[in-house]
This record gives sequence, C-alpha cells and structure tokens, in this order.
Amino acid sequence: MTTPFLLVQLSDLHIGADWGGQDPVAAVEAAVAAVLRLEPRAGAVLVSGDLSENAADAEYERTRELLQPLGAPLYVLPGNHDDRAVLRRHFDVPGEGGEPVTYSADLGPLRLVVVDTTLPGDDGGALGEEQLGWLDAELAAAPDAPTVLAMHHPPLATGIKPLERIGLPPADRRALAEVVGRHPQVRRLVAGHMHRGIASELAGRTVLAAPSTYLQARLDGTSEQLTLDPAPPGFAVHVLVDGELVTHVQPVG
Ligand SMILES: [Fe+2]
Ligand SMILES: [Fe+2]
Repeated sequence: MTTPFLLVQLSDLHIGADWGGQDPVAAVEAAVAAVLRLEPRAGAVLVSGDLSENAADAEYERTRELLQPLGAPLYVLPGNHDDRAVLRRHFDVPGEGGEPVTYSADLGPLRLVVVDTTLPGDDGGALGEEQLGWLDAELAAAPDAPTVLAMHHPPLATGIKPLERIGLPPADRRALAEVVGRHPQVRRLVAGHMHRGIASELAGRTVLAAPSTYLQARLDGTSEQLTLDPAPPGFAVHVLVDGELVTHVQPVG
C-alpha cells in the first residue's frame, strides 16, 4: 500500500452564529484538533461553504485564524451564508469581487474542481448555464486527473422537507449529471449545506454531503420545520489509496 493522500473537508463552520447558545468557535477548534491528529497529515483542506454566519469581515478574520494551525493548503468556496466579495478579502480565492467562485487546483494525486452553487440573497442553490459550461470545459482540460468536484449545495435529495426547499433543484441536478456523465475522471462530488453526513449518487458517481463542524440537522421526513439533532459534529476525509478514493465521515466527539 502506498502512503494514502488525505483531502480533509470541513463544512458549515458558521463562525458568528449563536444557534441555541452553541459556540461555533469551540466547535471549529475541536475539529481542527481532530484533523491534526490524523496520520498521515492532511495533504489539503477544503472548506465547503458557510464559513461565516453573517459574512462579516470579523467573522472571516476569526475563521482564518482558527484554520491557521492546519498547516495544509486551504481551499474555500462560498455557501449561502457567505458573501463572495467579503470572502475574497480574507481568503485566497480566484476571481474578483462578487463573481462566482470557480477554480481548479492540483492537489498532487487529486485534482479539485470548485463550482459555485450560491445565489446571492437566497438560501437555495443553482447551477446555471455559465457555471456548467465552465465546468464542462474545465473537466475536459484534464481528462486523466482523478477529480473531486466540490460545491456548497449537494446535488442530492435529502427527504427532509425544509432542506429540500433550500437545496439544488432537480433540474439543476440533472443538468449537472449530464456534464459529469461526459467526464469519467470525476471520482466524487462533495458538498455541505445539509448539516448531515449524506451519501447519494449522480451520474454513477458518489455524492457526499459532509456534516457541519457546528450543529447537525435531524433526520425527519415529515416535519416542515428544520430541527437540530444532538448528533456530534464531524468532517469528511477523502482518502486516495492505491488509486481508490474512499470517504470517511469522522465524528468529532
Ligand atoms: Fe450551513
Ligand atoms: Fe448552507
């Protein structure tokens, strides 16, 4: 067995939030400590959106400080609680101002491709023609690189009504499936937003929504209201080992 390559995925940090008196800062500190205990160490860290609660400069500044000890290349993307322009002031994100955040990065044995599912001012997601056109071309440029495709709103159905209302609409998921279907090197689609670890598939590829480092959503198929679950926070670890990409969902106890 060759040395595994670890891509750690933290999601939905919500720095600045005060949901039910719970502290998101302490939760990120615990997640970072857990990441630092991994062996081998993370080769890269992805933060899949909702870094902040209110998109305030101070919240991003604090987030940056909290993630600093990770000591691995950091890749961020915006969620519905973020603001692209403010995010760009604090993190090294390609593009300018309020432009959608799309980029790709060579992590070594893996390629990370990021698309922007956010709709400024809306909690729901979308993937328009522009995003999908960019993605199709970007994937066509490196057909042999094992690729992880990352976004905030996961292309899956949750069966949880209040989450369905703020998800990626079925038509957008189908359009994404058409693009991904043309690019066999896409090995995993990863996202956050749902505050639960959820797996599904799209175009024959596994889709993983990572849990939040903060609070988790309850599995409830009937309620119209979102309720929180006392489940522990967690993060995802995507491990490339001997050419196989496996995903662990790691609780932070
Ligand atoms: Fe979130
Ligand atoms: Fe979100």
